[in-house]
Amino acid sequence: MKRTRHAIETFEPLTEKTPFSYLEAFKTFRTNVEFVTSTDNCKAIMMSSALSGEGKTTASINLAIALAQNGKRVVICDCDLRKPKVQRYLRIKTPAQNGVSTVLSGSCSLDNAIGYVEEMGIYVMLSGPIPPNPTELLSSDRAKAMIEELKSKFDYVICDSPPVAIVADALAFSKFVDGCILVVRQNYAFQHDIKECLNKLKMVDANMLGVMLNNYDVKADSNYKYDKYYSYSDANYYGTKK
Ligand SMILES: Nc1ncnc2c1ncn2[C@@H]1O[C@H](COP(=O)(O)OP(=O)(O)O)[C@@H](O)[C@H]1O
Ligand SMILES: [Mg+2]
Repeated sequence: MKRTRHAIETFEPLTEKTPFSYLEAFKTFRTNVEFVTSTDNCKAIMMSSALSGEGKTTASINLAIALAQNGKRVVICDCDLRKPKVQRYLRIKTPAQNGVSTVLSGSCSLDNAIGYVEEMGIYVMLSGPIPPNPTELLSSDRAKAMIEELKSKFDYVICDSPPVAIVADALAFSKFVDGCILVVRQNYAFQHDIKECLNKLKMVDANMLGVMLNNYDVKADSNYKYDKYYSYSDANYYGTKK
């Protein structure tokens, strides 16, 4: 099977000009997220994936925008403290002095680390300066307190994270969020990478909300009638289907 890995990183935010099929698929994704989070004060969501490049950061930002377009107060947190991309994708010119890393190290208050991106209608907490100890910071009591405080201020807290198969940060952090969505890019990670990633998340008792199938090639699948870039399926998908 041919696997495409992307070296060049670009980001297209959801706007009125976004191609219809992409927009519709994202609206469906948003609706599904709203359904699965409608109970138990489920507000803080971590977007994870096995490998880098599967579309976590893209999906995190566009999910945040889609939820905000539906009237929700949403903050996106860049919890990828090793290779943060949210700042670049949101085209914020100046790197933030404060962000997740400085809040977690106790040198900044939450309010001083959050900004508002007017054109997208979302709040953002950038990663802050790259710390030497990301796993420790993301598994600390301060990380738990940060998520609780964010939940008290926002309808949704969308956390971008580093890949599960590569570093332990996301696993450590997953216990503080209410649920995780696994982003799986078609023809990208191998099945064993994805299974291992799900097993690791299961081992730390992460609450799996579902799997988002990214960059899905509908033309190659005759079962699908409509053009879609994204699709969303139940978390059990990988447990039952090869
Ligand atoms: N559905 C998609 N269609 C086309 N390109 C995509 C899609 N999702 C992500 N990409 C691109 O793939 C690259 C990696 O995405 P990114 O969100 O940075 O992945 P990750 O955060 O998992 O490393 C970026 O250039 C992004 O624009
Ligand atoms: Mg990323």
